[in-house]
Amino acid sequence: MQVELPSSFLWGAALSSYQCEGGNFNTDWSRWEKDHGLEPAAGACGHYRLYSEDFRFARELKLNSLRFSTEWARICPSAGVVSEKELTHYRQEAGVLRGYNIEPLITLHHFTNPLWFMNKEGWLRRENIDFFLFYLQKTVTALKGEVSWWLIFNEPLVYIYNGYLRGIWPPGKKSLSDARKALNNILAAYLTGFQEIKRIYRPDSTGVKISLAKHFRVFRGCPGINFGLNSLSAFLRNRCFNQRLIDYLEQKHSLDFIGINYYCKEYTRFRGVFGGQCRHRHHAERKNYLGWDVYPEGFYQVLKSAGKSGRPLIVTENGTAETNNQLYEDFLADHLKSLGRAVQGGVDVRGYFWWSLLDNFEWDRGFKCRFGLLEVDYATLTRKIRPFAHTYAKICRENRIEWKETK
Ligand code: BGC
Repeated sequence: MQVELPSSFLWGAALSSYQCEGGNFNTDWSRWEKDHGLEPAAGACGHYRLYSEDFRFARELKLNSLRFSTEWARICPSAGVVSEKELTHYRQEAGVLRGYNIEPLITLHHFTNPLWFMNKEGWLRRENIDFFLFYLQKTVTALKGEVSWWLIFNEPLVYIYNGYLRGIWPPGKKSLSDARKALNNILAAYLTGFQEIKRIYRPDSTGVKISLAKHFRVFRGCPGINFGLNSLSAFLRNRCFNQRLIDYLEQKHSLDFIGINYYCKEYTRFRGVFGGQCRHRHHAERKNYLGWDVYPEGFYQVLKSAGKSGRPLIVTENGTAETNNQLYEDFLADHLKSLGRAVQGGVDVRGYFWWSLLDNFEWDRGFKCRFGLLEVDYATLTRKIRPFAHTYAKICRENRIEWKETK
């Protein structure tokens, strides 16, 4: 079987500033690493300095689009201050991509916040939204000549869940009421930011496309004696985590497309209303290097279900960390098959971004998880194309997904 994609289809890879650039010490994550004795991002992949080289690799791999994020703490080193030098830097990054005919897609918030912002209680205070909007306004105005695609936030629910409910990411809160406050403020920032970006592009705001990158996960009840209750928790997680945010933003007419990040399936055990993760040892699926259940069928289900909204979809992240090339190859082939089947079934998917262009800093897991099309040698900062990336490059070039039907 095969599907041909339209010539406008975005074939890309994604990365984020904190995970790749290096030197982002003015952020809450940098402080968190120090306070918790975690492996620091420090110089990361040196992408801030080496971006032209990385983008040349992207061109060599036939990508026609690239997703990266701007670092708020660089652009606004303190409250109400904007660094023209950093705006110029990011404008140059976007310009280099454009020069290679690679469409830039920019994320404004990818989990990290300036230290000064968090010292003012960050997302917990309504009045702090204006600091984010100031940053958004300056950045979008500076880059609008080069950029037509914006993601205001990356995975707000993951950020809230890890940072305000589980307390395993900064700011380390474990409070439902704080989580609610922070989420409401982030949503308010998103809605105002959406209008603001449209305003900045006027009179010709039809060309600009705005959304967020939303993490989707397939939840299933943990097998065993409590399967019924476990399935109930899985059902609730699915409604709250996968659907409600998108429904809400749809009602507010504030999505030009739906950005989908998809990685895996998660088994849920009944514990409180939303349940907890289930550590059942006998799940049949393959696990990746991080222990995540690889589940390509779930990718198809997510695309089918999100496609019902009628909005175009863009897969803003999909990828895996592995230890050998065949496992990357299998993951890519199986997930592109799901994408192909969804497109064949009428789902309007406009792009696919592999996470990530290069190996990088995987938050609380440090540098050992390798998601890159490019392998990074952290001692020398040299990059090498992984073999499976050539397979991806061929698909990007041919703009076609082929697969074998299995009975
Ligand atoms: C995040 C990335 C992260 C990736 C792999 C995504 O949810 O946006 O920052 O590296 O997952 O864990």
